[in-house]
Amino acid sequence: MLGTSDEDLFLGLTFARAETAGPHIDPRAFRDALGQFPTGVTVVTARGKDGRPFGVTVNSFSSLSLDPPLVLWSLANHSGTYSSFMEAGHFAIHVLAEGQEHLCRQFARSGIDRFGDVKLEEGLGGVPLLPDVAALFECRSLYRHWGGDHVIFVGRVDRCRKWPDRKPLVFHQGQMKKIED
Ligand SMILES: Cc1cc2nc3c(=O)[nH]c(=O)nc-3n(C[C@H](O)[C@H](O)[C@H](O)COP(=O)(O)O)c2cc1C
Repeated sequence: MLGTSDEDLFLGLTFARAETAGPHIDPRAFRDALGQFPTGVTVVTARGKDGRPFGVTVNSFSSLSLDPPLVLWSLANHSGTYSSFMEAGHFAIHVLAEGQEHLCRQFARSGIDRFGDVKLEEGLGGVPLLPDVAALFECRSLYRHWGGDHVIFVGRVDRCRKWPDRKPLVFHQGQMKKIED
């Protein structure tokens, strides 16, 4: 740790220690309250300098800006993919569709080949793309911000696609659910 009087550095990311101090919040209650907010489920992928694909299941994805087209997501700084994503110049965000629950689980598991027998295409910057998703955002990795025990990645969307006939998966109260019309 190193920094000026009001700022600190953690893993090279700047943050203000005084601003983040506050009352203790029970972690379980915090997680449960967050679980009341339904999200989609995404898998973020990229390719390492060694050419190997890597990826992780993420529900922290959000739109950020329309002009320029920006999106964001956050990654735990203890994730096995942390340093690879910090180095990656591009990433792709896949919005999983109904029937892709297995991909949600697969890309959240440690110690396995997450890509297994998934048929990949190659996207911008050589990023591995997953098939049959509901939407796809191909991004340049623009900024990385300190976010507590997570890092916030901001991506500039260089290409996006959607498949409106595929319904997105929903994550709510710790479970994957379907959209009922
Ligand atoms: C539905 C769902 C959403 C998740 N969202 C995130 C997320 O937004 N950020 C994150 O860092 N991990 C998230 N995770 C956890 C990661 O997918 C993964 O399990 C974790 O990073 C541990 O694996 P690793 O250390 O090998 O990367 C999520 C898991 C699930 C099942």
